[in-house]
Amino acid sequence: MEDLQKLETEIISDITAQDKLSGLEDIRISEVGKKGRVSLLMRELGKMTPEEKKIFGPKLNGLKNKINDAITNHKATLEARELNRRLQSERIDITLPSAPENQGSIHPISQVMDEVAEIFTEIGFSIAEGPEIEEDFYNFTALNIPPEHPARQMHDTFYLPEDADGNRKLLRTHTSPVQIRTMMSGPPPYRIIAPGRTYRCDSDATHTPMFHQVEALVIDRDIHMGHLKWCIEEFCRKFFELDNVKIRFRPSYFPFTEPSAEVDIGCAFRDGEILIGEGDDWLEIMGCGMVNPRVLENVNLDPGEYQGFAFGMGLDRIAMLKWGIPDLREFFAADLRWLKHYGFAALDIPSLSTQNHKTGSSGSERKANDNPPARQKRGERATRAGGTQVVSEERTIVPPINKNEGHK
Ligand code: PHE
Repeated sequence: MEDLQKLETEIISDITAQDKLSGLEDIRISEVGKKGRVSLLMRELGKMTPEEKKIFGPKLNGLKNKINDAITNHKATLEARELNRRLQSERIDITLPSAPENQGSIHPISQVMDEVAEIFTEIGFSIAEGPEIEEDFYNFTALNIPPEHPARQMHDTFYLPEDADGNRKLLRTHTSPVQIRTMMSGPPPYRIIAPGRTYRCDSDATHTPMFHQVEALVIDRDIHMGHLKWCIEEFCRKFFELDNVKIRFRPSYFPFTEPSAEVDIGCAFRDGEILIGEGDDWLEIMGCGMVNPRVLENVNLDPGEYQGFAFGMGLDRIAMLKWGIPDLREFFAADLRWLKHYGFAALDIPSLSTQNHKTGSSGSERKANDNPPARQKRGERATRAGGTQVVSEERTIVPPINKNEGHK
């Protein structure tokens, strides 16, 4: 029998020198596998005398066990080494600064819509919606504008092609059809506002074919013009942040309200700017009136029992007034530079809780290329130049818009 001690040293050092798992397996096969060197030696035991067997049997078994143990141990070492290598090479360095990302901002129209919704929901209105592709009945007929009515011409309507039944749908020209849909969907009382997109075939600096309106409708048993007046005044006080807002009701005509009025807000035109809350001039901001009894009849309500008021205004227009934006078309030009300039930070959610906040300092200045503050305080306005104008409660500085122009 060979020198087993020498064989053991040779095989064990072979095992520990291996740096690959596959190499270890090769050694196992060639030493202790079926035809391995140690296995062949074990076969020779059969030819030995009982005395020789007693000596070599345990020795060979011991050798086989040592080899198997050494392979198992070294395998564990190699596996641990491989795991460490992967942990090192696949490590993510979380201390690296992240790649720059474009941060979105809130469009001024969305901001104004949210502000308007917040003001009205605070005084008990809920929000109603209706389709932008509307039927003639809801947009006109039910609102007391029958087919031959001249008021239809004022609306510059976009019509869709006739359908199989000869009906032509249209893009709603105002949010007033939501009044009809609301009244037809359940019994009074109603206290809703309906903000949304509206369409007229018209385009210049103060008109775009698509614009936004917000409608209000209140119907109950004892509603009178005093309620209408208070709601509009309260809205103007909150929206323009003016304690003493001057409001004027001018007689007007809408087929769906009777009596009807246009609402003007007191302002001054000075040095090419409009100062809201000052002076003796007036700027038209909305149309309103008591809901025409005919409209109530059209939706099967008894005008002897129910009455109410409605008003509608252009959201884009009041956004221009509030934030000093001179050209209506820019709202929809999708120019990122403009949006960066006038847009609102993602977290700048309008909240009445910040209302009446008088700003004495210019702590959070808003500049064109600055990151706007997370929440702009009321009482601070972005000016056309991009800076923040800290204004007193009494006046708002806005650029000129032609008097009595624009969609209601
Ligand atoms: N729908 C009218 C318009 O678009 C505005 C309005 C609404 C007037 C409600 C009176 C009452 O011109």
